Amino acid sequence: MNQFEEQAEIVRQEQLTPEIYRLTLNAPDIASNARPGQFVMVQTTTSYDPLLRRPLSIHQTIGNEQVQLMYKVVGKGTRMLSAMRPGNSVQLTGPLGHGFDLAGKDAICLVGGGMGIAPLYFLAREILRTNTPPKLVVLLGARTAAELGPLPRDFQDIGAIETFLATDDGTLGHHGFVAELIQKHLTPEHNWSICTCGPHPMMKAVVNQCKKLGYECQVSLETMMACGISACLGCAVPRSDLSGPYLHVCKDGPVFKADEVAWL
Ligand SMILES: Cc1cc2nc3c(=O)[nH]c(=O)nc-3n(C[C@H](O)[C@H](O)[C@H](O)COP(=O)(O)OP(=O)(O)OC[C@H]3O[C@@H](n4cnc5c(N)ncnc54)[C@H](O)[C@@H]3O)c2cc1C
Ligand code: FES
Repeated sequence: MNQFEEQAEIVRQEQLTPEIYRLTLNAPDIASNARPGQFVMVQTTTSYDPLLRRPLSIHQTIGNEQVQLMYKVVGKGTRMLSAMRPGNSVQLTGPLGHGFDLAGKDAICLVGGGMGIAPLYFLAREILRTNTPPKLVVLLGARTAAELGPLPRDFQDIGAIETFLATDDGTLGHHGFVAELIQKHLTPEHNWSICTCGPHPMMKAVVNQCKKLGYECQVSLETMMACGISACLGCAVPRSDLSGPYLHVCKDGPVFKADEVAWL
């Protein structure tokens, strides 16, 4: 798998909500090789603090030139990134990891929660562009409507007509958890394959629903990552049978079959 190190110039920095930003960068080597579900390691400052790069999913590629990231400010690195402006540059390594597998699917349902929605946009665009598989349903969840920002409209604008929403507080769409939408909106005539990314408890609920309904499921995992390139072993997750060596999210993932990993 090809990986590149690019000094990427910032083209646009958009603030979508008080905490969420969308960053567009010129990174032609990464843009032209990226697959949905892959990520980049981003240097968030030119100084030594924070020293470590931060992992961010590829939100979309624009042509063969630009990479877009969507991130939430949660700490020092993402705060420093949010202060950067067009014309500034950051070091990017990528595309990293394994993305989603679309081969041989009859119908795909994307289930995203919070910032886990970021990589699913790239995936939805790829499915709609290639019409593989022909059937797509998108389920998006957040704690409250404001956290979804423009995302529901973004999905509808690219042609994901069947997009359904859930918020924990009922301010938009279904009042409850996004996993509850699976049974409500997926019709039994298709052999559904689920792709999910979001907070661990949300994905666990999605995996449980899939087990109950007999659907195949791919999960995109997030762990703390120090290197992103399989050198530090800091991103270990246990296998489903708790045997053998741990899996590493940066190398073996971030996308796994749900039954490969343990849901503790
Ligand atoms: C493969 C992968 C893809 C990711 N994609 C995205 C994305 O598209 N958009 C996005 O907003 N975030 C994404 N993340 C999470 C993102 O990497 C962290 O939010 C970021 O590194 C925090 O850096 P910071 O310096 O701002 O915060 P820090 O100061 O490092 O930490 C602030 C707080 O966030 C927690 N935290 C830090 N990193 C993680 C993590 N990886 N998982 C859970 N909690 C964490 C810390 O424990 C701490 O409580 C992804 C993570 C991984 C592993
Ligand atoms: S982040 Fe270093 S091995 Fe995965």
